[in-house]
Amino acid sequence: MGPLWGKNVLTVGAVDRLFITFEGTEGSGKSVQARLLANRLRAAGRVVVETREPGGTPLGLELRQILLGRGQLDISTRAEALLMNASRAQLVETVIRPALERDDVVVCDRFADSTLAYQGAGRGLGMDELASVIAFATAGLRPQLTLLLDVPVEVGLARKHAQAQGNRFEAETLAFHARVHSAYRSLAAAEPDRWRCFDAVSPVEQVAAQIWDAVAARMGLLA
Ligand code: TYD
Repeated sequence: MGPLWGKNVLTVGAVDRLFITFEGTEGSGKSVQARLLANRLRAAGRVVVETREPGGTPLGLELRQILLGRGQLDISTRAEALLMNASRAQLVETVIRPALERDDVVVCDRFADSTLAYQGAGRGLGMDELASVIAFATAGLRPQLTLLLDVPVEVGLARKHAQAQGNRFEAETLAFHARVHSAYRSLAAAEPDRWRCFDAVSPVEQVAAQIWDAVAARMGLLA
């Protein structure tokens, strides 16, 4: 199976443009690893833009409050998918594309694969329909490298619950998170050139070292 959405509109290889995304279920440690990778890339002399979804822009932050809030607001599954992609469209147009055009490296904590995993597998929306919405929101922009932090659902949720009151997604059933987890594995298996998977139960420094090896290899830094 090929990519589910869009085609790569940035030249890989010839130009050193790098858009890296982190994906994973709750409590997989993405945010920590994204920060460590960004710092390491900076130490290697690259300018790095760190961002995340939903969010990353003033509009995205407003949408994030709406999407993650556990208040009274009723959000239908299709509305949820569109709001995630509204945040994404704004982020791509105003932050990610301009950064890549400056040859900065972009490290994004979650991107379109989160929609396929959560709204597709989790909520049960059609993957093809979602792929069309994503292609529209991103205007075809896809990451060169997607790093999947794989952690058993129960372990991740326990980590999260130890930290703080959960958001609207963390409050979902174990079965929901199990569908998300298995969708990530399928997405990664379908596009092995783009995805790298890491056992995120391992110590943070060990995962960070493995991630750096994968990114450095992709950038040719080890060559
Ligand atoms: P966040 O607090 O950033 O969670 P995490 O630390 O696990 O990344 O909350 C983001 C939540 O939004 C997360 O539960 C996944 C969900 N989400 C979707 O359902 N669809 C999407 O397209 C995106 C980007 C996120």
